[in-house]
Amino acid sequence: MHLQLTEEHLIIQKAARDFARTELLPGVIERDEQQIFPAEQIKKLGELGFLGMMVDPKYGGSGMDTISYALVMEELSKIDASASVVVSVNNSLVCWGLETFGTEEQKQKYLIPLAKGEKIGAFCLSEPEAGSDATSQRTTAEDKGDYYLLNGTKNWITNGSTASTYLVIAQTHPEKGSRGINAFIVEKGMEGFIVGAKENKLGIRGSDTHTLMFTDVKVPKENRIGEDGFGFKFAMKTLSGGRIGIASQALGIAAGAYELALEYSKQRKAFGKTISQHQAIQFKLADMATEIDAARLLVYRAAWEKDMHLDYTLSGAMAKLYASKVAMETTVEAVQIHGGYGFVKEYHVERLMRDAKITQIYEGTSEVQKIVISRAVLGA
Ligand code: CAA
Repeated sequence: MHLQLTEEHLIIQKAARDFARTELLPGVIERDEQQIFPAEQIKKLGELGFLGMMVDPKYGGSGMDTISYALVMEELSKIDASASVVVSVNNSLVCWGLETFGTEEQKQKYLIPLAKGEKIGAFCLSEPEAGSDATSQRTTAEDKGDYYLLNGTKNWITNGSTASTYLVIAQTHPEKGSRGINAFIVEKGMEGFIVGAKENKLGIRGSDTHTLMFTDVKVPKENRIGEDGFGFKFAMKTLSGGRIGIASQALGIAAGAYELALEYSKQRKAFGKTISQHQAIQFKLADMATEIDAARLLVYRAAWEKDMHLDYTLSGAMAKLYASKVAMETTVEAVQIHGGYGFVKEYHVERLMRDAKITQIYEGTSEVQKIVISRAVLGA
């Protein structure tokens, strides 16, 4: 394993950094305040190939590796985690799942427009009573021969109203537990599919999070992903990669807050010198820099393992667990370093602090990551 980024990685990292500064930074405070989805910016990210980064070019993707994806996620998340979550969900949860497990027909019909960024996808697993306990799906998909009849409710769905293609997990054979679950491709506009209320959130307020309702939605048989009963494994495998994306997002939120705090500490004067010359601030910056670097190494290892076709379930969970903790702690410290300025919106760190919290919750809470890690550690 090389710890040095390649020339290509540096180019893609710079492209993402430039995009974040020129396209995401303007208006990010207003979008957060007014819960405005960054539609224009997402369209441009699609045109740059950032919505199907790892997809084979023959399916409209950019054919890049997971390290490149982590680099892009970090740079975008330094400025706007509401935009980067769209990139993460589309790449990791939707495009990857379809490319890896979809039929050729499903790839032609659904993957290509998603990878090109012409359409956006959503991943629908969570329910009012099935968040961490993902096997307890109440949404049902009854086999009716040519089609499945889908009934149920999904909660906290990222891209809930902006998506066109939804990967929906549902219970087909309740008596079989996790082996009776299936994953389906559902299109916006299918009869009986209603996009419900938008959530008014603490953080990532520009992202579009909704409840979805399905009442007797007829899903064609050919829209099932994989063999009958593959849905739970599909969701788990997909989330294993998704966690690398969210770990990269957490890393970016932490790094963004740290960079702002570092810069501010060199400008702000107190007691006759810049606050960066006070040891109290120096020690904070030293801790932040060290923890961010440790998180970055965990993220890169997980991404590298995925690129090497190794099992990255453990490394992805570790990266997400640690990077999200660092995001939370670093953003709190960044606000502290800014003092009163940190508590107002213009300085960006309060938004990053609010955005950090979701990285400890979605795509598996920190407790879920610990379940995954402890099972591996104990060989269970
Ligand atoms: N890869 C492959 N297979 C896996 C797997 C993985 N990572 N994890 C579990 N499996 C398989 C198991 O091997 C087992 O297979 P067999 O039946 O053949 O033995 C099967 O799946 C059932 O596994 P478990 O008994 O371990 O299942 P469990 O119920 O104990 O689940 C859990 C464990 C880790 C807690 C899991 O339920 C989980 O990850 N929960 C969290 C779900 C989650 O992340 N939700 C977030 C929603 S998505 C989201 O946030 C999207 C968004 O919009 C941002």
